[in-house]
Amino acid sequence: MDYSFIKKVLFTEEEIASRVRSLGEQITAYYRENYGEQEINIVMILKGGFIFLADLIRHIHHPLTVDFMAISSYENGLKDTGIARITMDLSTSIRDRNVLIVEDIIDTGLTLGYIIKILREKGPNSIEICTLLDRAKNRIADLPIKFRGFEIESFFVVGYGLDFRQKWRNLPFICTLKDEVFET
Ligand code: IMP
Ligand code: MG
Repeated sequence: MDYSFIKKVLFTEEEIASRVRSLGEQITAYYRENYGEQEINIVMILKGGFIFLADLIRHIHHPLTVDFMAISSYENGLKDTGIARITMDLSTSIRDRNVLIVEDIIDTGLTLGYIIKILREKGPNSIEICTLLDRAKNRIADLPIKFRGFEIESFFVVGYGLDFRQKWRNLPFICTLKDEVFET
């Protein structure tokens, strides 16, 4: 494989692994303390978070379930309004349950803000957010992020599940892209 598209590796495989482990420990402690043995119902919005989720749950030592949602990405419309269309809904009820949303990256927060509104209507006991990457400077919708991996600047990143036009999700590290990648 040709790696010449990479500008800079921001987080190595080892750095990610160590951060993910510590996030898992934080989540374990938080739910034990606040909810005893009650299950965590993890909700992931496809697809960017799938690698993070797979690694993270193996460091959460608490009973949990995993469910998925998918939304359509109207590239521009979505950014402006935060309104998305749900293309795949949860397969089980979250009424009175403790929901933990696991995300790859939160940028403006508009997508997640919209999803949280929908999830609230389903009557959960609690909703918390865990994101691997937080681009806090771009935030428009104010979101209470309980668990965060790394804060990042404005650069677009790929790898460890994150894509650019569906590519480079398989990189074990997280990196930025050379400018010419965006020009094609
Ligand atoms: P938001 O609604 O602006 O918070 O958009 C968040 C979503 O945009 C994430 O769940 C990603 O799917 C996508 N996204 C934002 N920044 C990046 C990035 O740097 N790389 C890959 N995907 C990104
Ligand atoms: Mg995403």
